[in-house]
Amino acid sequence: MNPHPAFPLFPHRHLLGIKGLSPHDIDLLLDRADAAVAISRQSEKKTSSLRGRTQINLFYEASTRTQSSFELAGKRLGADVMNMSVASSSVKKGETLIDTAMTLNAMRPDILVIRHASAGAAALLAQKVTCSVVNAGDGAHEHPTQALLDALTIRRAKGQVGRLTVAICGDILHSRVARSNIILLNALGANVRVVAPSTLLPVGIEKMGAEVFNTMADGLKGADVVMMLRLQRERMAGALVPSVREYFRYFGLDAEKLKLANEGALVMHPGPMNRGVEIASQMADGPQSMIQEQVEMGVAVRMAVMEALLDPRRNPQGRTA
Ligand code: NCD
Repeated sequence: MNPHPAFPLFPHRHLLGIKGLSPHDIDLLLDRADAAVAISRQSEKKTSSLRGRTQINLFYEASTRTQSSFELAGKRLGADVMNMSVASSSVKKGETLIDTAMTLNAMRPDILVIRHASAGAAALLAQKVTCSVVNAGDGAHEHPTQALLDALTIRRAKGQVGRLTVAICGDILHSRVARSNIILLNALGANVRVVAPSTLLPVGIEKMGAEVFNTMADGLKGADVVMMLRLQRERMAGALVPSVREYFRYFGLDAEKLKLANEGALVMHPGPMNRGVEIASQMADGPQSMIQEQVEMGVAVRMAVMEALLDPRRNPQGRTA
């Protein structure tokens, strides 16, 4: 039984990225997520909309919050959730991504959630398997549920996303979170800025619809939302920043820099945070911080996405194929 028959049908089988979603699709997911927040705040959190469905989480990269968020989301919808631990699987014996996916697909899951270090991994799987696929982060490409949970957090705090000025700061180069957010925020009509040293900016980023700033002083002036990103040192081939101390001094968010943004600007971070590197503890734990709220919204957004993809009006037999 779908507990939200009032929501329009989501017109996609998979969620591979924000690219390809219309503003209407995005609003629909955010509206559904608002309903899921209400469910998560009840003492009885379990619903039955995905009862009998099987969800497999296939995480090839270390993850705490995203994997546990997808797991809880599935459980709150009543699905059976299995976490494939890649560390102890045949992947270690050299099995390819496609072979692993086809093996899992033969067990007839309804939804496969994948995180992988290669851009395009989720799209590749979606072509091979018969169930719905959700991209939980593919290399430096996209992380659609993160952008959706960020948008939900902003919408609930500010009443809207359109027309706000959002400054995304830090390691844009390696960030799938930044890419998905730039696409989503543009779709909803926000003014998007990226603030970073030029070594951490991908070439041509302005073509995605982001205004480029090389100093926090310029980039934060007039911002309604300050979104900090982790310095992804594990993805860096060489030294792209002189030193962590130097980086914090120029690009780390502290009280002084935050004062440049609009009054009441939201402070956001997708986590995991490097305190004292891209964000001062005082800002991460301060009154403007939305970081815990983002985590809460994460579960709701993942519930919304999985429920929308497995809408029984589209899959009366319970299978997506
Ligand atoms: C992000 C990711 O994995 O892309 N984290 C997350 O999903 N919560 C950002 C990061 O790793 O810095």
